Amino acid sequence: MPKLLPIITNPSPVLRTKSEEISEKELGGKKLQELCLDMTKTMNEKDGLGLAAPQIGENTRLIVINTQDGPICLLNPKITKKSWSKEVGEEGCLSLPSIFGEVKRYKKIDCLYFNTKGKKIKMQANGLLARVIQHEIDHLDGILFIDKAKNVKKIDEL
Ligand code: CO
Repeated sequence: MPKLLPIITNPSPVLRTKSEEISEKELGGKKLQELCLDMTKTMNEKDGLGLAAPQIGENTRLIVINTQDGPICLLNPKITKKSWSKEVGEEGCLSLPSIFGEVKRYKKIDCLYFNTKGKKIKMQANGLLARVIQHEIDHLDGILFIDKAKNVKKIDEL
């Protein structure tokens, strides 16, 4: 059974550390498959659109995201192409509870990653999905959306 993992909130050094590439040997391994399932459960339980490994305390280049076709797990994700145009949209983050801000992101991206079976996959994303992938990959580089956001606001919890 997948486990619910505690989410690390800002400030924390693990959120500010550049995460390490997963080695070829580890790519199709059981350990990361389990981590992906645990992270997917955690993301869904917390109503997140995405979750990056540093947010659960692992400086590993792994993210999970929710897509129209269900959750997917991206290992060593890399943006290989960016659109010329950008757009502004509101973002939040499970590691920054009740904080929101407007972030400018590329409208369309190509992304290369490995799935949990170690297979290399190329995907195209635009709009919200492209935004989520850029947000999560930033986590792997120790970047939080508040570093880039304008009009940051804190919504008081009820
Ligand atoms: Co986030």
